[in-house]
Amino acid sequence: MSDIISFDQREGFIWYNGEFVDWKNAKIHVLNHGLHYGSCVFEGERVYNTKIFRSLDHSKRLHASANILGFDIPFSVEELEKAKKEAVVKNNITDGYMRVFAWRGSEKMAISAQGNKIHVAVACWPWPPYYSEEARKAGLKLKFAKYKRPSPETAPVASKAAGLYMICTISKHEAEREGYNDALMLDYRGFLAEATGANLFLVMKNGELHTPNPDAFLNGLTRLTVIDLAKKRGIKVVERHIKPEELSEAADVFLTGSAAEITRVGAIDDKYFYPTANQMTLDLMQDYHDLVRS
Ligand SMILES: Cc1ncc(COP(=O)(O)O)c(C=O)c1O
Repeated sequence: MSDIISFDQREGFIWYNGEFVDWKNAKIHVLNHGLHYGSCVFEGERVYNTKIFRSLDHSKRLHASANILGFDIPFSVEELEKAKKEAVVKNNITDGYMRVFAWRGSEKMAISAQGNKIHVAVACWPWPPYYSEEARKAGLKLKFAKYKRPSPETAPVASKAAGLYMICTISKHEAEREGYNDALMLDYRGFLAEATGANLFLVMKNGELHTPNPDAFLNGLTRLTVIDLAKKRGIKVVERHIKPEELSEAADVFLTGSAAEITRVGAIDDKYFYPTANQMTLDLMQDYHDLVRS
């Protein structure tokens, strides 16, 4: 039995459509469009020493994600910022994780849901690193996923929309069943894309830092932060389409995300191995650690 308390059974307060409600009472009806049709967008953010890292950027992205799905969030970015800050205080969070999310409600339960009420909630809780200590020490073991990130002509790839995570969960479960920590996804053209919930970087043997072009997946805020940090160190950063076989030209590989932070990869598909951390990775991890707590 897991000692993790189920997320609907915790203590605390969730901001729900403009007011705080008791954690266990933050409920929805089973017939809602978000659940049945994936009409939901969300943000995953981290709180470091009571401060939400890149909070404003996350709130703006939530609005943008909703607009891509064709709805407006009924709270302004400023109102969300206020709610988020209050949620940290009310739940007494020093270091933790935050979910801000919005979904179409229950008024119409068909594919068309014009005018359905848009619900918004903010929850935060203490949270350890995303991957286990053992996996982080050894470097993650990744397995190539069968599913590919869809083309922008097939899905709204720039939106952090819940529906896009269906293939991520399937892929991650499959990888975990086979003893891997996560799955690495290619895009619809066969180029390297990202992991199931984090972006990908390759520290090349020539000293450059390469990362896939974010044209078929989320351009993560952590990704953008790491690119800035690398440039500040004078590292040449190249965003391009990268073929999977180019993984053999990397000295080190790492993932980035609000949840994953910067996590090294140790092996991919039992074919590409990165047994020791490269100094560039270690420097960027330290820079990121310092920045988020500054
Ligand atoms: C699919 C996916 N890609 C990338 C990221 C990284 O995005 P960010 O750095 O903004 O958290 C995430 C994390 O939310 C994600 O779920």
